[in-house]
Amino acid sequence: MKKISFISILALLAFLLASCSQSAGKKVATTNKGKELFYKKCNVCHIDSRPTKEQAPYLLAPPIMGVLYHVKDGIKADNPAEKRKKAIAFIMDYVHNPDKSKSLCEAHAIKRFGIMPSLKASVTQEELRLIANYLYDNYPPADMKHEKMDKDMKGED
Ligand code: HEC
Repeated sequence: MKKISFISILALLAFLLASCSQSAGKKVATTNKGKELFYKKCNVCHIDSRPTKEQAPYLLAPPIMGVLYHVKDGIKADNPAEKRKKAIAFIMDYVHNPDKSKSLCEAHAIKRFGIMPSLKASVTQEELRLIANYLYDNYPPADMKHEKMDKDMKGED
């Protein structure tokens, strides 16, 4: 009898530990959901780093840091909260309904890559909200030098 209760206490402890670590894992998963979705749905075309000279000719779309640079540069608002809201709304709309007239990227980007295809069929607005929040908070990196990247993209020195 004594032995059984010892085992059941062990089992209970193991169960508690397991459920604890599971719920901690869930929290991380929710926070990282936007990042995870970006790598699943956007990163095939938008790379997450500054392109090397070797990569530059093979890009399918502007690097995501360049995209966010232009979105933040192009959207005007009276205060940071308003700007964030507008930028996230812009990204959520553009990915479903891309259009030349809405573009905040430079004309040469569209000339080179063409207009982005609509991802209406493969990403939902809810997923896009998570992605757009993640992107807004993490790009462009503070040390990004736009002109230098632009020259690399065009193959200039
Ligand atoms: C099949 C390739 C492809 C995928 C996948 C893709 N994009 Fe794009 N995206 C492009 C291209 C090409 C451009 C540049 C032309 C343009 O702006 O329309 C672009 C431009 C953009 C722009 C800038 C719009 C502007 O012109 O101001 C945003 C924002 C954007 N993408 C967000 C996303 C997000 C978020 C995802 C993932 C949900 C994603 N893209 C997935 C190809 C892609």
